[in-house]
Amino acid sequence: MSIRVRLASAHEIPVGTGREFVAGDRIVALFHTADGWHALDGICSHAGGPLAQGRVEDGVVTCPWHGWQYRLETGHHCLNSRIQQSCFTVEVVGDDLFVTID
Ligand code: FES
Repeated sequence: MSIRVRLASAHEIPVGTGREFVAGDRIVALFHTADGWHALDGICSHAGGPLAQGRVEDGVVTCPWHGWQYRLETGHHCLNSRIQQSCFTVEVVGDDLFVTID
């Protein structure tokens, strides 16, 4: 069953930054980039690092713990496409940000 969760007000998250949220039973890393919003599983597949604290550049987030990199559009690891973070749909309704968790 999927759930839709309001995370924040869009104006609270500047372009070029990420923020971590709890949504249902998941940790969500929400990123605001020049091309829009992206939400990935916030727990890095390597060793549980906090992806929301990672550096974002050219559509890729770099985990702050050991540098694994994931594409924001798909959640795929940049060097090994068999590794993939879950991605969540982000909706912007007015100034409110929602994610859908499956
Ligand atoms: S925990 Fe993310 S790269 Fe190691």
